Amino acid sequence: MASEQDGKFPDILHMKIQVEFHSRTSNINPHVRSQSFHPSSSQPLKDRDSLETQKQRKNTVATGDVQLQRLSDYPHRSLQALSRRYGPLMMLHFGSAPVLVVSSADCARDILKTHDLIFSDRPNAKVERVAREFDQFLDEVVEEHRRKMEEKSIGGGGEDRRDFVDVLLDIEKDKTVGFAFGADSIKALVLDIFSAGTDTTYTVLEWVMTELLRHPCAMNILQTEVRKIANGKPNITHADLEKMHYLRAVLKETLRLHPPIPLLVPRLSTRDVKIQGYNIAAGTMVITNAWTIGRDPSTWDEPDKFKPERFLNSSVDFKGQDFELIPFGAGRRGCPGTSFAMATNELVLANLVNKFDWALPEGLKAEDLDMTECTGLTIHRKVHLLAVATPFPS
Ligand code: HEM
Repeated sequence: MASEQDGKFPDILHMKIQVEFHSRTSNINPHVRSQSFHPSSSQPLKDRDSLETQKQRKNTVATGDVQLQRLSDYPHRSLQALSRRYGPLMMLHFGSAPVLVVSSADCARDILKTHDLIFSDRPNAKVERVAREFDQFLDEVVEEHRRKMEEKSIGGGGEDRRDFVDVLLDIEKDKTVGFAFGADSIKALVLDIFSAGTDTTYTVLEWVMTELLRHPCAMNILQTEVRKIANGKPNITHADLEKMHYLRAVLKETLRLHPPIPLLVPRLSTRDVKIQGYNIAAGTMVITNAWTIGRDPSTWDEPDKFKPERFLNSSVDFKGQDFELIPFGAGRRGCPGTSFAMATNELVLANLVNKFDWALPEGLKAEDLDMTECTGLTIHRKVHLLAVATPFPS
């Protein structure tokens, strides 16, 4: 096993591993140099197994290779496997870029709360060209809406359907928001909603319906709660939602098991800092594995099971204060759309289960439902969910 002290990390036992892998899905540098270390240097060396050690053992060579080979398929899962072996803080090198992988609530708190300011930058993904194209497109959208508004105020004609951009243009006109609100603010808000808000929000709905169809007992409890509070009303209001505790627990449990962005959005350290006793250099990219944290057996009882009840008598929430549940990240770069996303999810889910009874297509058993995830930044189902809806009351 190669084990050495590295000048950059003077106070930790530092294992350096050279692993070759051949990615099936990308052409990135096939040589990944992976450096990983453990917070506790008192841990016996043999327990701090390395991929190098595995290579020396028959039958285990493949383990290390497979994990890294699959990094590009399901990185949150591969990184979970690595963190189980190497600990909650791992330093990997993707080519020449150092990447710190965070896989425990305690370490996430250190990054996203204690040293929030230092880790509040994002890696520059060189998106200038795309940004310019988006900007032009959004200019046209705003102009088109202005033109239609003008035509309507002169001629009184035109369509009556108003959308989100019309509402933002009204706010611009009113000048009542108390801060400069012009075309740039409108474009930024439209961009945020569409780029960060749509895919993620619908992903939660897809997973929550999947879990409810796999767990008819939970569906039953939820429908009983929602229908009792809705009490025959055609539309559920926000005041009703506040009383729906099981509904909220179901959504929390779904976000725990299926955070739409399992590795959150990368951060970049702006200066040298010490995390859990380790020196982390400025310019290190940080990936937080919220998916692994949500399934940590030291926090969660039966972590892989869907059990909304675990949240009924618990104050744990997803708002960025409880680091064992961070689907929206935390701190100053945490998701600003959390409330909007959850209000949407609660309202849509409550209406779906209030107005319909749900079943899997005939012949498909709950345990046979395909749970394969697709790949990408946002993780949704690979195969679309098919369900049979029967209006209620029928
Ligand atoms: C279920 C739905 C959503 C999930 C799971 C989600 C998750 C996230 C996560 C993990 C981050 C990175 C946080 C961090 O680095 O700590 C983020 C950032 C962001 N989200 Fe969301 N989001 C959702 C919905 C929305 C919605 C509806 C909007 C807009 C209306 C939105 C706008 C943004 C923006 C603008 C950022 C970047 C913030 C920054 O870099 O300062 N998100 N989101």
